[in-house]
Amino acid sequence: MQLGPTRLDNRIGVAPMTRTSATDEGLATDPMVSYYTQFARGGFALIITEGTYPDHKYSQGYWNQPGICNEEQMQAWKRVVDSVHREGGKIFIQLMHAGALSQGNRFKNETLAPSSVQPKGEQMEMYGGNGPFPMPREATKEDIQDVIIGFTEAAKRAKKARFDGIEIHGANGYLLDQFLTDYTNQRNDEYGGPTENRVRLLVEVSQHVRGAVGHNMTVGIRISQGKVNDFQHQWEGKEKDAKVIFHQLAEAGLDYIHVTEYEAWQPAFDYKDEHQGAWEPAFGDQGASLAALAKKYGEIPVMANGSLHDPVKAREMIEQGEADVVTIGRGALANSDWPRKVKNNETLNEFHPERFLSPNAKLKDFEIDFGNSHMR
Ligand SMILES: Cc1cc2nc3c(=O)[nH]c(=O)nc-3n(C[C@H](O)[C@H](O)[C@H](O)COP(=O)(O)O)c2cc1C
Repeated sequence: MQLGPTRLDNRIGVAPMTRTSATDEGLATDPMVSYYTQFARGGFALIITEGTYPDHKYSQGYWNQPGICNEEQMQAWKRVVDSVHREGGKIFIQLMHAGALSQGNRFKNETLAPSSVQPKGEQMEMYGGNGPFPMPREATKEDIQDVIIGFTEAAKRAKKARFDGIEIHGANGYLLDQFLTDYTNQRNDEYGGPTENRVRLLVEVSQHVRGAVGHNMTVGIRISQGKVNDFQHQWEGKEKDAKVIFHQLAEAGLDYIHVTEYEAWQPAFDYKDEHQGAWEPAFGDQGASLAALAKKYGEIPVMANGSLHDPVKAREMIEQGEADVVTIGRGALANSDWPRKVKNNETLNEFHPERFLSPNAKLKDFEIDFGNSHMR
């Protein structure tokens, strides 16, 4: 499978997962080198990193989240990249601006959002937060320029660190999704109002990142309806919105769109619940999946995510042409060698949230191959 300039050995990727295991200064650590490398060794052709903050302003979301906002952080990530490459894997960095959902930022004491709207829900305990989110400050035009510059400069650093690609985090309720979402974006300027305007910042960030890294690095974006603090959200304009969003993003020069059907994957929820899977209709009880709509209106490669640890479902998404690549989150935590196991018809482990995400999302000792992490 070809994703822009990146050639993948198969169509299976690890979904981005925040593990808050960097140093206080946001540097990737030895355990992270080992953790990411195990997926490449287990047969995943592609790994997408956890959401990484691009700038030293408002983007950091969590304490001990890794960043790529300076040279030191870039060098720390390079060790992860080199190790994954040595195992023959490809690795994209997910650039994430937390916006109003930031619950741990060592650079700023306030949060930034398209509008001053109190976020729904509560801070996530598995990332060390609790209680309501603070009221964010409405971004000025200058703040918006800073956000774009932040993504752009981070993208250049990611290229220097030899990442194969960049995934812009436009999903799950973070800053770019706050711009896209009607109830969190109440602006009256060109970034607010109709869907065409609300998608503008996502398009501009995509264009600038592409401009910064050129065409010999893969650039994609992640899009969802649901959010970490509002699982059930659906686009009001339904398929009309999907058309505007996916078409404009594809026009921005991206190599792929990664869609996730957000489900309640947090530890408090049972893994076996009837969660929304990637194959289910995007709106209501029938109709196309979000992945199929991204393909139809974007006409560029699509990655699908959401309960695709079931190999039958994963295969169907690909065979029916709804997705070009599938990504696996929780199932990859439970089976770092999921592709190898599926190929050999071996039994897959079940994911137990309490094992991986309790009392918090930090990497657990059993996920780290200590022998390996010292051999680089
Ligand atoms: C511990 C954990 C951390 C996550 N962190 C991120 C993240 O940093 N960025 C992101 O886009 N999605 C994140 N997600 C969502 C996953 O990428 C994925 O969409 C979700 O787990 C559903 O896919 P699955 O059914 O294969 O697990 C996270 C999920 C988990 C379980």
